[in-house]
Amino acid sequence: MRNRRAALAAVASAASLALTLTACGQSGEGGSEEDKNGAGGATIGVAMPTKSSERWIADGANVVKELKSKGYRTKLVYGEDDPDQQVSQIENMITQGVDALIVAAIDNKSLGNVLQQAKDADIPVISYDRLILGTENVDYYASFDNEKVGELQGTYIVDKLGLGDGKKGPFSIELFAGSNDDNNTKYFFQGAMNVLKPYIDKGELVVRSKQTALNQVTTLRWDGGTAQKRMDDLLTSSYRSARVDAVLSPYDGISIGILSALKSDGYGSKAKPMPVVTGQDAEVASVKSIILGEQTQTVYKDLRQLAKVASNMVDAVLNDKKPEVNDTKSYDNGSKVVPAFLLQPVSVDKNNYKQVLVDGGYYTENDLK
Ligand code: GAL
Repeated sequence: MRNRRAALAAVASAASLALTLTACGQSGEGGSEEDKNGAGGATIGVAMPTKSSERWIADGANVVKELKSKGYRTKLVYGEDDPDQQVSQIENMITQGVDALIVAAIDNKSLGNVLQQAKDADIPVISYDRLILGTENVDYYASFDNEKVGELQGTYIVDKLGLGDGKKGPFSIELFAGSNDDNNTKYFFQGAMNVLKPYIDKGELVVRSKQTALNQVTTLRWDGGTAQKRMDDLLTSSYRSARVDAVLSPYDGISIGILSALKSDGYGSKAKPMPVVTGQDAEVASVKSIILGEQTQTVYKDLRQLAKVASNMVDAVLNDKKPEVNDTKSYDNGSKVVPAFLLQPVSVDKNNYKQVLVDGGYYTENDLK
């Protein structure tokens, strides 16, 4: 099988050279159809979780573009946040004979059987952004330092409230976490709580709802509407006679739901200012909200780099080379420690969004108008 992979990769590399020479690389269109613009090399199956969030649309396009620039063909599918649909999409791609898989899981525990089928067909698997759990059949993991994401959110809240500068509050805070079937959720929450918990223990931060355990604060499928409903309930049950000063939100889509609930409750005026609200992904709507002074912060993760890392991993594996990794300890999926390449997240707010996002070429000024 090694030979089969090497042969395929050799075709891909030659095709890549041809593409470079003729400078005719085209970016992928997305969608679930086979991309026939590839140069005749191996085909890579790319399974993304949902189109309901801008980031995953960008991920799909970026990965396709990277793979095509290396001469690979691609099949890109989106699972509509339905774990069963994602399993059957991956099954189909295996049946169709893809040569490698890049998978951003919807439910990290639901892929064991289908990845056994991948293994049986000698198809290597790269876990993309979210670690797939409970199977040995994950070769590499491409992601960001997920605990650091939470630390950036927690630190931002502490600094913005002035707790680091000697203010003692007490300030009130509510906590939100991501989907309980996403392995990243616990890392984000853990990272944030590493920073926030000492202040909660000292009574300088007070969670009036008393909902501080991860299983009390998760948001299934990262859904903004679910977060909005929970924030509505919290405001009704715990903030009739008090104001909330900060909300830990792990993701921009959740922040948008939280902000809607806050606005409906009259937050956003001089008398009742918006609390500090964090986020993640630097999605356009949230960066605009930051510019308007509603959401306070987000964590930017350069998805172009993530796509490069994942595509390089595929390319190395198919060429029987060892992909570059920078973490061989942190990501135990229950069956093995998956070698990972972790990129660095960056905290973004009103003060640095231009420098980080616009000067960095991630968005144009126009995108954010
Ligand atoms: C996580 C991802 C976050 C965010 C969230 C919701 O797995 O790491 O960046 O996108 O999913 O889509």
